[in-house]
Amino acid sequence: MNSDTSGFKPDAFGTLPKQQEYIPNLKLSDGNEIPMLGYGLGTANSKRGNKDELDQKIVNDTLTAIRNGFYHLDCAESYGNERELSAAIAQSPVPRSKLFITTKTSCRPGESVETAFSRSLSKLGVDYVDLYLIHSPFFAESPRQLQEKWAEMEALKDSGRVRSIGVSNYLREHLEAVLETAKHPPVVNQIEYHPYLQHTGGLLDFLREKGIAVEAYGPLTAVTKAAPGPVDPIYERLAAKYGVSSAEVALRWCLDQGIVTLTTSGNEERLKNYQAKLPMFKLTPKEVEDIAEAGRKKHYRGFWKGKFDEDDRR
Ligand SMILES: NC(=O)c1ccc[n+]([C@@H]2O[C@H](COP(=O)([O-])OP(=O)(O)OC[C@H]3O[C@@H](n4cnc5c(N)ncnc54)[C@H](OP(=O)(O)O)[C@@H]3O)[C@@H](O)[C@H]2O)c1
Repeated sequence: MNSDTSGFKPDAFGTLPKQQEYIPNLKLSDGNEIPMLGYGLGTANSKRGNKDELDQKIVNDTLTAIRNGFYHLDCAESYGNERELSAAIAQSPVPRSKLFITTKTSCRPGESVETAFSRSLSKLGVDYVDLYLIHSPFFAESPRQLQEKWAEMEALKDSGRVRSIGVSNYLREHLEAVLETAKHPPVVNQIEYHPYLQHTGGLLDFLREKGIAVEAYGPLTAVTKAAPGPVDPIYERLAAKYGVSSAEVALRWCLDQGIVTLTTSGNEERLKNYQAKLPMFKLTPKEVEDIAEAGRKKHYRGFWKGKFDEDDRR
């Protein structure tokens, strides 16, 4: 799963991965690298119930993911499970230096990024995180507030406790505000991305033009929450062609567009299959486009719905 031996790297400007026998890292615009396939501690893994007690299932599932080659771990303070991730890191057979750890700030009202970050770092039990994200732009009431918050992120990067900084759920207008004053531009925008939410207003082209890597969450939405739909027959045809599942075609569809792809599973067999099968096939550009074209016939947003009108596809 790592590309230590390869000089070739897909990058945030849209250089696409080649067929390789492993899932490569992607080179970010700040020079750091991010594994293109990540394991999410959100959604199914978000902590429910007593927040003070360690949830051993989350620890065990995360350890299972690490043991099966998922070294990129995507967390957030709002998932409530940074301590569980800490326990998994402590028991991990893979050293912390080989793991890529992301967490996110919720930008609670009146709280500084420094305060939120210090709390996350202490819960995670590490002395740096690889990627720190602003979870969403919806805390801000003006472009100026977006810019001020970003300046706080930059101070963290300068402190050396965060290797890379980025954002999540930002639209073009939010990024334009940030880029106006940024000293260190965001290297990542983590967004919901699948055939039924392709951000047809041009968000991806804008991100690539600016060298901001796209990270997809919810990549299996067309197979899961939004099924049935117009991509089903294409997923099924390609699954049969490559001897994989529709979910694996869905993940490959993101990877083959040079997109860092986040998924999760409590099912070890699925995780094993992702690591074994995803490097073994690659969709052709026509197959990527066939799925995109069918996907545009339906619109589905699974997250942050309260912030968007029903038919807002940005
Ligand atoms: N920044 C944000 O605002 C934001 C929002 C949402 C998510 N995220 C991040 O992105 C990560 C992934 O998001 P996601 O869970 O929505 O990703 P996903 O890859 O679209 O969905 C994964 C889920 O699909 C389930 N599933 C059901 N049927 C399946 C099938 N036939 N094949 C494969 N999987 C199937 C899996 O359950 P099983 O356990 O049964 O495999 C798993 O819970 C999250 O954990 C989180 O870290 C970020």
